[in-house]
Amino acid sequence: MAFTFENGEWNLKSGGQVWHLERLAKERPRPFYLYDLDSVSERARAFAKAPGQVHYAMKANAHPRLLSVLRQAGFGVDVVSLGEMQKALACGFSPQRVIFSGVGKDTEDLKAALAHRIFQINAESFEELQALAVLTASTGQTADVAIRLNIHLTAPTHKNIQTATEESKFGLDLRLLPEVLSWLKTQPQLRLKALAVHIGSQILDVSVFETMSRKMGELFRDVKAQSFPLERLDLGGGLGIDYQNDGAEDFPRLQRYFKALSAHDSPAQLLLEPGRFLVARSGVLIAKVVYVKRGVSRQFAILNAGMTSLMRPALYDAYHRIEPLRVRGGERETYSVVGPICESTDVFAEAREMPRLAAGDHVAIFEAGAYGAVMANTYNESPLPEQWSVLDGRMEVL
Ligand code: LLP
Repeated sequence: MAFTFENGEWNLKSGGQVWHLERLAKERPRPFYLYDLDSVSERARAFAKAPGQVHYAMKANAHPRLLSVLRQAGFGVDVVSLGEMQKALACGFSPQRVIFSGVGKDTEDLKAALAHRIFQINAESFEELQALAVLTASTGQTADVAIRLNIHLTAPTHKNIQTATEESKFGLDLRLLPEVLSWLKTQPQLRLKALAVHIGSQILDVSVFETMSRKMGELFRDVKAQSFPLERLDLGGGLGIDYQNDGAEDFPRLQRYFKALSAHDSPAQLLLEPGRFLVARSGVLIAKVVYVKRGVSRQFAILNAGMTSLMRPALYDAYHRIEPLRVRGGERETYSVVGPICESTDVFAEAREMPRLAAGDHVAIFEAGAYGAVMANTYNESPLPEQWSVLDGRMEVL
């Protein structure tokens, strides 16, 4: 890890340079994100052993410099909106490395995907396939499509990020597949090249990925036997990280994940769409303690960053490590760490024990590189946080 704690302070090291985070924070009046992009490239290298072709789920973090690190590592992208697609293309990804997922792609989105002749459109419903059929029939174009299936698998994760429970809005319900397949036979301009799945996010128990891969392998064999030009299985993303610690377990878990994905027992080529695993640990959100305020039975550390900068704790009760950038003395205290936003859920941590804080101190909220800045919003007219990044000894803001 290139964020290191030495002599009582947190630093970021890259290419022989050392940045003292407290010093950086003092120069910046507003909360900001800081990304260690060397760590993203290290994680990308770990995917050299992946059992398939990697398409980074750019919804996790779409910072242009980060995208360019992953593009140079040879990854494609998984996008879920026209905005993401345009950004990926502007960052130099070839349309032939773009997968377009998403449950509500409208005519404009589909037209753009067809115009760019992207690698694969992941349709999530019969209705979306029908819209695609109309568009392609009117232009005489062909399109390579995947059907994202809801295979009714409850992933062991927070219910707000499960995506394949029976009533989930994502994917085509497995029970509708036979009807859709017989209709597809009448639409030769739509070439069914892949079956896709994504069962949820922040999954640590990899055994569910094995079940998923087996099931998808069975479906691949079945559908292939019905003379569709199937070539690949898109197994989505979803591998989590342990937010309670700094990541020693991540790489062994990644190997177990690769093994689990290989259970499909079919001739399919695999596609993977990892997001969080690649980028979560690369980012910290740095904020200032505005007040330490006494309550009746607790004390609040009130930060200048809130749920508008990092929504995960408010949305999913997510745990993030929080550390003061500089520690003086050995005293520890327990705080409710909260933001300034006018919402009771604007809480980063309840009853968190940590080194003693004082007004004017700065803290780092760790593991904020995935689903952090991309979900930031301007409620209460909060400005969006700046995003700084370090790569090969160079710091930049974009
Ligand atoms: N592929 C598809 C189709 C997806 O919907 C997602 C994430 C991924 C890949 C990447 O999943 P990952 O490897 O990052 O788990 N905002 C939530 C997470 C939402 C995930 C949405 N889909 C959070 O902060 O935990």
